[in-house]
Amino acid sequence: MINNLRIGLFTCAFTLTLSAFSQQAKQKLSVDEKIDALISKMTLEEKVGQLNINVGETIITGPTMYTSTSERFDDLIRDGKITGLFNVHGAAYTARLQKIAIEKSRLGIPLLFGADIIHGFKTVTPIPLGEAASWDMNAIEQSARMAAKESTSAGINFNFAPMVDISREPRWGRISEGSGEDSYLGSRIATARVKGFQGNNLADPTTFAACVKHFIGYGAAEAGRDYNTVDFSKRALYETYLPPFKAAIEAGAATVMPSFNELDGQPLTGNKHLLTDLLRNELKFNGMIVSDYGAIGEMINHGTAANGKEAAQLSLEAGTDMDMMSYLYLNEVPNLVRAGKLDVKYVDAAVRRVLKLKFDLGLFDNPYLYSDVNREKKEIRSAENLAVARDMAKRSIVLLKNEGKLLPLKKNYKKIAVIGPLADNKEDMNGSWSFFGETQHPVSIVEGIKSKVEKGTEVLYHTGCNLYDNNTDKFAEAVTTANNADVVIMVVGESAVMNGEGASRSDINLPGVQQQLVEIIAKTGKPVVVVLINGRPLTLEWIDQHIPSIVESWTLGSEAGHAVADVLFGDYNPSGKLPVTFPRSVGQIPIYYNHKNTGRPYGGNYSEPASQRVYSSKYRDIKNTPLYPFGYGLSYTSFEYSDMNLSVPKISANEKIDVTITVKNTGAYDGEEVVQLYIRDLVGSVTRPVKELKGFQKVFLKAGESKKIIFTLSANDLSFYRADMTWGTERGQFDVFVGGSSEQVLKKSFELTN
Ligand code: BGC
Repeated sequence: MINNLRIGLFTCAFTLTLSAFSQQAKQKLSVDEKIDALISKMTLEEKVGQLNINVGETIITGPTMYTSTSERFDDLIRDGKITGLFNVHGAAYTARLQKIAIEKSRLGIPLLFGADIIHGFKTVTPIPLGEAASWDMNAIEQSARMAAKESTSAGINFNFAPMVDISREPRWGRISEGSGEDSYLGSRIATARVKGFQGNNLADPTTFAACVKHFIGYGAAEAGRDYNTVDFSKRALYETYLPPFKAAIEAGAATVMPSFNELDGQPLTGNKHLLTDLLRNELKFNGMIVSDYGAIGEMINHGTAANGKEAAQLSLEAGTDMDMMSYLYLNEVPNLVRAGKLDVKYVDAAVRRVLKLKFDLGLFDNPYLYSDVNREKKEIRSAENLAVARDMAKRSIVLLKNEGKLLPLKKNYKKIAVIGPLADNKEDMNGSWSFFGETQHPVSIVEGIKSKVEKGTEVLYHTGCNLYDNNTDKFAEAVTTANNADVVIMVVGESAVMNGEGASRSDINLPGVQQQLVEIIAKTGKPVVVVLINGRPLTLEWIDQHIPSIVESWTLGSEAGHAVADVLFGDYNPSGKLPVTFPRSVGQIPIYYNHKNTGRPYGGNYSEPASQRVYSSKYRDIKNTPLYPFGYGLSYTSFEYSDMNLSVPKISANEKIDVTITVKNTGAYDGEEVVQLYIRDLVGSVTRPVKELKGFQKVFLKAGESKKIIFTLSANDLSFYRADMTWGTERGQFDVFVGGSSEQVLKKSFELTN
């Protein structure tokens, strides 16, 4: 009723202000014609207003807020100076602002409401790196779908996600926001997330526009320091960093955000070669490009623009349509155009793309489509949404070690001690980029365990130490707590603010005295399980050597405690696999599975004295190998791989080859296994990685059950950017590997004959 009234008002205002336009609209104009008609009515100032998006008042995700504190949003909207707001929410609030745009601004153009829905809205799902560990495309799509459904009910129609930056840099805090180190896995996940966010129709009120970010190379920041310089080859760009963007664009992603970093000496925001030649012309992206927060102005710091005028001109001409928080389009572009320096065609092209997005979102038909108070009430933290979050959370957990089968735990121990600074913590369970998720809501690990065990079981808890400092005062009490129990669960790791934007770390050990706490508790001789909560790979050698069971739970969101308890007590058999390599030491970084062989590969087993390890590519002090490789993760059951076969020994480039393998569940539990296929092209016009992921299937096997798994490889899987940068195959020998991680594999070979 209220909505109908608002639509009525909107239509009325729109008709009065734009009667000619409405006349034409009645004649069933195409969207392009409607946009033309609208643009023809716009002043230059109204045009640049459509290119300016402003952060809201409460959730500030960058260094600046307003240019002028005297201007309030209501005025900016009425005066047509903003195209929308971001990181605001609430059906009633967004409807109120929308009403000003529709009824008070001269042209009545509806507003966008953007937000960083990175891993859920009020119902928080695992951090993206955690979700990636599920290797479960259906679950990831459902998680994104749920996030879209929930946040669109609160007015949000434009999501700054998915973040698809490939990263081999665990020091970089934003590795938590992506899908890890691999382009193939990253591409599959990018597709799943775009589908989940956008559905089949952007104008469906339960979907919103995705924004693929950050284009491009942001995850390769030198030394893992956020916003730092990026420098890599054209080959690395195409082979490693571009594929997930390509996949997201092919899946229909409506918008793209350029990254803060420079590449080859030019910040992305003003990089015509990458935004226009590559993204628009080569990848055929025809959606809208929104700058990152203040990034247009930052070109002055980078040193490619002398002042705001130059920065605005460079960005708009390069292809950045919308200015997020630099105010340079608003303040500089009209003068640049009037001075004859900037061709208005750039402004018109950008406005056209912004208006097209608003049309596609259905906002011109119903500007209040996404601000639905009744739907919001039903959606926010609904039982259905929490169930999706719990399902996603348990699928994201990776079992790193389970010596002596300590896990799963019985539910009827007399006493279980849960120790650690993250054990009964709620606020950090939401993780980085979870501004909308209230900190009092998540289920702590202690709460999850308490709700799981039998009535007679006592759950003891001690914090043990703080997250960061060196204070060991509480150690003695924690030891007493451990001594009183039959089994100890230690919950250690990073706080939410230790990862995410601007949260790089130079060492990636457990912060503070947490490892010492684990060491001292381990000395009690009690069986100890370590549950890790973290947003990046950590260096865990001591823990790996001394603790029998280790559970990687990332940061799991609203249902963290329930999901961890589901796994610890065997109600869910863990099935996650690492989407990123865990190094032994920070000195090994960058370390990733698909490295090159080098001219002097180390082929030994580290048995020779370190002083004799010369003239091959290795360290004197540690092994080359990671602590836990990409694709690795255990289960409570065991899987045996056998009968690997290739359908033919040779193929030509227009033929396909089937790779079959039998996987058997040889343990006592039903479980899921991620069967992974890698290839190696042995000789090429350019060097090829020692392994490249080319396929995976997540299969469920009952205890004792076997399944024959078939992968089909075609020319596209065997293609690469050859020496001349053309995409295609080269004849020669290929190795193909199938197994349960990038290291535990069976191998066969075949020949590509032309
Ligand atoms: C981040 C983006 C984010 C934007 C808006 C920036 O600081 O780099 O990823 O979408 O803020 O919140």
